[in-house]
Amino acid sequence: MYLGLDLGTSSVKVIVIDEDGMTVAQSSCSLSISRPHPLWSEQNPDDWLRAAEESILSIPKEIRQNIQGIGLSGQMHGAVLLDKKNRPLRPAILWNDGRSFKECREIELNNPQLRSITGNQVMPGFTAPKITWLEKHEPKIFSLIHKILLPKDYLRLIWSGEYATDTSDASGTLWLDVEKRIWSEAAINISKLSIEQLPKVFEGHEITGSISQTTAQRLGIPQVPIVAGAGDQAAGAIGASVIKPNDASLVLGTSGVLFIVTEGFLPNTKEGVHAFCHALPNKWHQMAVILSAASAIDWVANLTGFISPEEAYRAAERKGTSDDVMFLPYLNGERTPHNDPHAKAMLHGLQATTDKSAIVHAALEGVAFALTDGYEALKKAGGLCESISVIGGGSRSLYWGKIIANCLDKTLIYRNEADTGPAKGAACLAFSGVRGNNIESISKPLPIKQVIEPEKNYTEFYAQKFQRWQSLYQETKHFN
Ligand code: XUL
Repeated sequence: MYLGLDLGTSSVKVIVIDEDGMTVAQSSCSLSISRPHPLWSEQNPDDWLRAAEESILSIPKEIRQNIQGIGLSGQMHGAVLLDKKNRPLRPAILWNDGRSFKECREIELNNPQLRSITGNQVMPGFTAPKITWLEKHEPKIFSLIHKILLPKDYLRLIWSGEYATDTSDASGTLWLDVEKRIWSEAAINISKLSIEQLPKVFEGHEITGSISQTTAQRLGIPQVPIVAGAGDQAAGAIGASVIKPNDASLVLGTSGVLFIVTEGFLPNTKEGVHAFCHALPNKWHQMAVILSAASAIDWVANLTGFISPEEAYRAAERKGTSDDVMFLPYLNGERTPHNDPHAKAMLHGLQATTDKSAIVHAALEGVAFALTDGYEALKKAGGLCESISVIGGGSRSLYWGKIIANCLDKTLIYRNEADTGPAKGAACLAFSGVRGNNIESISKPLPIKQVIEPEKNYTEFYAQKFQRWQSLYQETKHFN
């Protein structure tokens, strides 16, 4: 049996799969975020460790004793700063922390070559600008940095004593030459760091070490290997069998991510496209990341006084679309395509007759349009897909799915068990790394629950409304 652990932002999830790739046990433990200042988002690495160990210990003992390998997945981009004794120097600065927006501009201005090395634009979510911020605002801590790790790799260090990461997660640092899949000294030097301060990079299925005897005793697991694993998006894709070129998935969680597997490295550094290594050797992926997806619908539903988001989805469905009301979902700035931390949400076209159901409908469309805007950016760099597998919590409303299918003009496929995502993917990578089986034979497509096809009369309507929606941001961005 193989254990996959996903260190998320709101919880840690653990899944154990058997030799047939079937889930035999799962558990989770919640986490909280600290936001001590506007734009800041931090977590304490030792809280991750406690939650991770608690989740593993809630798996039945007989199952834990039969584990043969561990795979790790986790929230990407976060900066875990360690001193010489491997103690965190401060709370980790997370992926959704926006404090480094000024540093992003400075890095871009002073280092125009960085885009061609990493294939990505400098965004506050990524790791490198967080370190430039630190150098400026917390120089003492900067001077004490012995190692910088990504979140999941802190667990690996504590459990196995190894400083290691994987190519998919390392892609989100802005220190990786994503095309060559190795650290770039030139990029690392821009952050005034040295390669010795970073972990060694492995492919997702490669074994980085084994858990120590004390960890094995504490967790009731044999002293098994740990594989490199993957960033949560790539791991989620593996778990959902999104592994062949042009396979695509859509995650509708707090943020929204459209993920396309690519045969080669396909960057578009002008429009906030994430061009990263996939967690499979010689495969890459593109992502359009929008920062408010299901969370924007929840926010609007709450503000307009619906008793629950589900009630709001139902009311919007009864209402149907209209020409006039439009919503920009930029409640937390936006990554793709604008890379604009100052972008703001906006509701346009209100009249005395507009009711709250129409506002929720506009929010459902606004998120669908934001995803369409992201997909346009992926297409410009050659990212193509036929159909898209929907995974994550936001897959709860099929009506929203219809709107998204019509806006994107793509078939959406809803699958059973699609929520197990990244932890399952990490377990599959452990299985592959320990046994040498290829991923295709381990992560098979999940059974289909529902297919939503685009409908011609709506795709035309939404194509026109999308043009007007796009100009809302362009015409008003100077106010932000
Ligand atoms: C991807 C990203 C998020 C985080 C949090 O670029 O920022 O997916 O990994 O889940």
